[in-house]
Amino acid sequence: MATLVDPIGRKIEYLRVSVVDSCNLHCFYCSPKEACRPRTVRDQLSKEQIIRVIAAAAELGIRKIRLTGGEPLIRKDIVEIVRDVAQINGIEDLSLTTNGTLLAQLAKPLKEAGLKRVNISLDSLDETNFATITHGGDIKTTLTGIDAAVEVGLTPIKINMVVIKDVNDHEIESFARMTLEKDIHVRFIEYMPLLGQEASWKQHFLSSAEIMSYCASVAELEALPEDDAHGPAKNYKFAGAKGILGFITPISQHFCATCNRLRLTSDGKIKPCLFAEDVVDLMPALIAGQNLHPLFLEAVSRKPLHEDISPASLGGVFGPQGMVDIGG
Ligand code: 5AD
Repeated sequence: MATLVDPIGRKIEYLRVSVVDSCNLHCFYCSPKEACRPRTVRDQLSKEQIIRVIAAAAELGIRKIRLTGGEPLIRKDIVEIVRDVAQINGIEDLSLTTNGTLLAQLAKPLKEAGLKRVNISLDSLDETNFATITHGGDIKTTLTGIDAAVEVGLTPIKINMVVIKDVNDHEIESFARMTLEKDIHVRFIEYMPLLGQEASWKQHFLSSAEIMSYCASVAELEALPEDDAHGPAKNYKFAGAKGILGFITPISQHFCATCNRLRLTSDGKIKPCLFAEDVVDLMPALIAGQNLHPLFLEAVSRKPLHEDISPASLGGVFGPQGMVDIGG
């Protein structure tokens, strides 16, 4: 079986695929209006192109696919994309990251098409705060979506909360408490800066160590053994709780040494590293019907050991488009 190994020996088995670069919510930290460029559907990968790219990746040893966006569920052909990806030889794990707003209708067809599980982005449990963070979103649609995902068994359900000081840090305990009664993973993600927002980012950044101390005020935390050495979360549990708490530390403790992933943007570019501007464009080869393997090898050979993501250097990390284009 083929494997992709980068120059420092990291085995690359995971491809995150952004299927669309827009979203039906507008979280200020992810798709700030001023960072949005005019979007054209023309340079977006077609379903067939997405399948070709993933099939080529699977031939080289990619085993795990996560569909992301923007918001992946706003693509009209998302169920067909899932169905086709699920049938690609070698793909063992197929998951999706969503804001949950369209899951009420789509959880069942997605599950039937072969989706295994979902991560749901949710940064507030309070109606007003949710609307503020998302620029007008309705929390009920996401909560109903989470219920639908639980009902059809898109599990384990992971809830991703980006923690932002003075915006939602007062809700950390409420998120943590959800794991007492519910069999869900709640994952606290350190806030990463967008281009042009460094000043406000510094004011609003909260480290995982601080987030963890808020959680510890709810009940004692027990560390869990690392079951998935390549997952970025450090996992804990409250004694007797049904669910799990995860802490993701892209800023305070980067996990570059165990990075096992590549990213594909919705306009057909492989990103070797989330924090670097470098891309390998697949579009010309896709249009010409050429073999994609050499381009994957090229992208893997260009994976940096680790990018400087210190606050001083963070200016350009996500380029002018913001995370909405990359899918986190
Ligand atoms: N900092 C941290 N996480 C972010 N995400 C998007 N933008 C940021 C940011 N600036 C997260 C989303 C989602 C995942 C795809 O990426 O909340 O959970």
